[in-house]
Amino acid sequence: MADLRTRYLGLELRSPLVASSSPLTGNLDGLARLEAAGAGAVVLPSLFEEDLAEETRQVDALLATGATGAEARAGHPDHAGYGAGPAAYLSLVAQAKAALSIPVVASLNGVSRGGWVRYASRLEQAGADALELNIYYVSSRPGLSASEVEWHYLDVVRAVRQAIGIPLAVKLSPYFSSLANLAGQLAEAGADGLVLFNRFYQPDLDIETLEVAPRLELSSSTELRLPLRWIAILHRRFGISLAASTGVHTAADVVKVLLAGADVAMMTSALLRNGPDHLRPLETQLRDWMDRHHYERLDQLRGRASQRSVPDPAAFERANYIKTLASHSGPAADRP
Ligand SMILES: Cc1cc2nc3c(=O)[nH]c(=O)nc-3n(C[C@H](O)[C@H](O)[C@H](O)COP(=O)(O)O)c2cc1C
Repeated sequence: MADLRTRYLGLELRSPLVASSSPLTGNLDGLARLEAAGAGAVVLPSLFEEDLAEETRQVDALLATGATGAEARAGHPDHAGYGAGPAAYLSLVAQAKAALSIPVVASLNGVSRGGWVRYASRLEQAGADALELNIYYVSSRPGLSASEVEWHYLDVVRAVRQAIGIPLAVKLSPYFSSLANLAGQLAEAGADGLVLFNRFYQPDLDIETLEVAPRLELSSSTELRLPLRWIAILHRRFGISLAASTGVHTAADVVKVLLAGADVAMMTSALLRNGPDHLRPLETQLRDWMDRHHYERLDQLRGRASQRSVPDPAAFERANYIKTLASHSGPAADRP
């Protein structure tokens, strides 16, 4: 039977199928179901910079009423889930570590080098095997240059790197003008791996009320192309791990990102849509594909279709653009 073991961020994983950050990984029941269905690792939902700022504000307010530090902190609600706060999050990390035998990756979401960076070391102390830093920043200020934005990313990564000894992954958006250069700088700043990509949720407009409406739609396999291209381009460039995120739904999607050079294939939408047991047929189909193609281990196939390995490396860049556009056969109505 094909061996699915892989290394990610220096950790040994039994399978490349990883559950990315989502509500499914935010409670022990979901985590246990993911482990039982074969997940190689789990990434917890993010602890947000805003949550940490809110806790500091509430504790300061209670301290102002004469409460002791311990009383003030105890007054902060302790329940799991988005916006539940740092205390609940630290306890989720500790409980997940105690309950699971697969690696548990904690996730911090922030944009600035603020006091929240200190929480990285608390996540490490709580037992996290690795930390994923999710830098979600929509730069809308004219006058703030691309290099200044990138400088902020690197600044945060350096600060977090100094604060922890566990492996560090950085989850990026695809919206950079020179992603390969940034990837190298992030590796230099101390990132052990990149998660490509986070999916920014675009607001919609309600044309009756003229209100901005938040819309969260799950991904489909067609969105895999973007991570696929960048994984193929970045494979073996900077000696860091690569995780594919966005658009991994089927076993064929998993095979594609591994061939491009990913160390793991992360999933959220597919697991939210189908439940954790979706991992079971995926694992079977991945093994079947490996058997049919006479691969015994993942390292025999990883990167076989990366930019360095394919006969036409330009296919991952601009070269295929005109050919692809020309290949479209026009409006369906005009076709015979
Ligand atoms: C409901 C929901 C909650 C999410 N929460 C987080 C989060 O807390 N932190 C994070 O880094 N990504 C979060 N994500 C993004 C996913 O981890 C993943 O990167 C994204 O959905 C793309 O992967 P997919 O195509 O497999 O869904 C969330 C996604 C969804 C749908």
